[in-house]
Parts: sequence; C-alpha cells; structure tokens
Amino acid sequence: VQRGTLIKHDGWVVTGYKEALHILKHPHFKTRMPIPKDSKDNKRLIRIQKNMMLFKNPPDHTRIRSLVSKAFTPHAIEAVRTSIEETAHQLLVRVQDAGEMEVKSDFAFPLAMATIARILGVSPQDYPQFRKRADLLIRTTDLTRTEKTLDGEAAASELLDYFRSLVKYRLHYPEDDLISKLVGEADDGDKLDEDELLATCILLIIAGHETTVNLIGNGVVSLLKNPDQLIKLKEEPSLIRSAVEECLRFESPTQLTARFAAEDTEVGGTTIKSGEQIYLLLGAANRDPMRFTDPDIFDITREPNPHLAFGTGNHFCLGSALARLEAQIAINTLLQQLPNLRLENDRLQWRRLFGFRSLEELPIS
Ligand code: HEM
Repeated sequence: VQRGTLIKHDGWVVTGYKEALHILKHPHFKTRMPIPKDSKDNKRLIRIQKNMMLFKNPPDHTRIRSLVSKAFTPHAIEAVRTSIEETAHQLLVRVQDAGEMEVKSDFAFPLAMATIARILGVSPQDYPQFRKRADLLIRTTDLTRTEKTLDGEAAASELLDYFRSLVKYRLHYPEDDLISKLVGEADDGDKLDEDELLATCILLIIAGHETTVNLIGNGVVSLLKNPDQLIKLKEEPSLIRSAVEECLRFESPTQLTARFAAEDTEVGGTTIKSGEQIYLLLGAANRDPMRFTDPDIFDITREPNPHLAFGTGNHFCLGSALARLEAQIAINTLLQQLPNLRLENDRLQWRRLFGFRSLEELPIS
C-alpha cells in the first residue's frame, strides 16, 4: 500500500495481493462513481453509471444484485453453452479458408457479443452498433482519459434510447430472456426502477463483451508465446479450465478497480483515512510473488490459483461463470479447428488503457 498518483488521480495505490483481498472484503471500503472534472458535459453518462450496481453500496447494491442474479442464474448460462459452441465453430469455418484472421474482431468479439445479446434478448441485427458505443464508454471511463468526453455522452444517450424502447417492447411481448425477466416483478414483489433497469442492461452489455474479448485475446497470446504450454493444452484439452484461470491471472483483462474508505481503517500497518481514495491494481496483485510462486511464469496447470481477476467480496463479478465458459469454449475450439495457428508478427501493441489489458489487434495465420 503506497500513496501515489495514477495518471493524475491521487490516492492510495495497492499492488499487494493480501492487502487487495483485505480491502475488497472489508465493509469499511466502499465503491463510488468516479466523477470526472468535466462532469457537466456528461450528465447522461453519469446518471447511468450512478445506477450501475458496480457503483452502489448496501443496501441498494444488495437489492439490485439479488434481483439481477435471479435472472442471471447458472441454469441461464448453461442454456447458452450449445449456442456458444455452434457460434465459435461457424465463425472459425468462415476464416479457415482465408488462412488468416484477426482474433479479436473476427472471432472473440462476435462470439462474446452474440452470447450476451442472446442472454439479454437483443436482436442479432443490432450487434454491430454496440461495439463502437461500448468502446467509447470504456475509453470515457478509463483513468487515461484526457480527451473531451462528448462522444461518450452521445454513445450513452444512444444506448439509453435503444434499451428504453426494448424494455417497453418486452413489457408487452415477453420472451425467455433476461430483460423480460427484469421488467417483471420478482416473487417478493420487488423490481428494478427504470433507471436501475437501463443501467443494468448497459452494464451487462459492456461488461459482457469487452472483458471477455480481452480474456480470449490475451489468453491466445499467452499460449502462443509459451509454446510448451500450448502443446500441453493441445495434448490434453481437459486442462482448459485451469488454463483459463491462468490466462485470467497472467494477463488480467480488468487491471484496476477502486474503493474509498468510509472510516479510518488500517491496512498492512498503514492507516487509510475516512474519505480517502484507493486504487487496487488487480493485475499486479495477481503477480504478487508473496502469493504466487514464479508469478511471471505462465503455467496452465497452476494449482491453486486464487487470482483476483474477477474481484472478490460483495462486488465479485456477476458474469464470471459466463466469461469462463466462453473462454474455455473459444480457446479449445480455436486450437481444434486451427491446430497450426501462429502469430502473424511479433509486434503486438497493447492499447493505451490503464484499467484494461487489451491488445490493439491480434493477427494470426
Ligand atoms: C464486476 C471482471 C466478465 C458482469 C466485475 C469486477 C471485476 C470484473 C474485477 C469487480 C469490480 C469491483 O469489485 O469493483 C470481469 C472480467 C471478465 C468479466 C475479467 C471477463 C473476463 C463479465 C461478464 C459479465 C460481467 C461476461 C456479464 C455478462 C459484471 C457485473 C459486475 C462485475 C454486473 C458488478 C457486480 C457488482 O457490482 O455486484 N467484473 N468481468 N462481467 N462484472 Fe465482470
């Protein structure tokens, strides 16, 4: 735990595993929406984010999370297994003849988008418009953001309008999808209000693809750069579960999360004062040598692997089971259908984002 500045944002910077775990589980540390200085330009964006469960604390957080979890069950996720397998297969058949592909846009993005959209009940013809808008929102909320955020505001407005009309439609014509379940009342009569419902749709569609695309992309790169591990996985595809856990640890798609202290609290011998901001570097915690033996070695059989890639505590990623399933299917299908895949070149560029570990592109042949 150190005092520091992350891209002009002052606060405590936590890189240790033990300290990050402690803070994420401790009730004195709460979440809040980072309000940018030019916030008056971003009214709609801020209103959406304020209503996301990610930025809520108990009791509101408990209420919203419990309502959404009821519709986002292991059963609902298992139900999309076959469609993920079929989509992965079809996407690869399409590129097999071409002999080369860009893993993120030709494979990981369409796969992740089709999956979360199917769960939410978004029609396939609307998929293309989500990528650009979701990307604008991610760039707008990243700590490295320096440009004016009017584009993010426009994207937020468009996503709001889109989901508002979809929600209205599903109220009258429900289907077996998550939005239809969320517009109705839970068994105890509770339900999300309109702002909470729209914020949840936007959170799920963004969280549901950007990070998953990066998990697949980063995982494929880690395997291609560690040929011994790639061979091991090809020989024993059942290692895919622990391989995906290692991909999550080694190149964590979400690198950063934040909290503030609601009361003076000691962490690792340091007192964090009430109101102070804390940045938790999950990617660094996942490579902490005090917790992981040889943390910079990519080992798909690593056991145990208690990484913090999905966070922990009451905000533990709601989509972790879905993300794991998608990545396991995506990587194994890729290795089966393109057994001789290799990196097209060695000059891979990471995007200039602070909170996300994301390649610009990943060409393979
Ligand atoms: C929360 C990472 C995929 C939905 C989180 C958090 C992390 C995370 C670190 C906790 C943030 C915090 O404590 O402040 C990831 C990664 C993913 C992934 C690395 C993929 C590799 C998904 C997917 C969905 C999803 C596929 C949904 C379809 C959510 C939601 C929360 C969340 C709703 C907020 C939970 C709450 O506030 O109670 N995710 N996520 N995530 N994630 Fe994910």
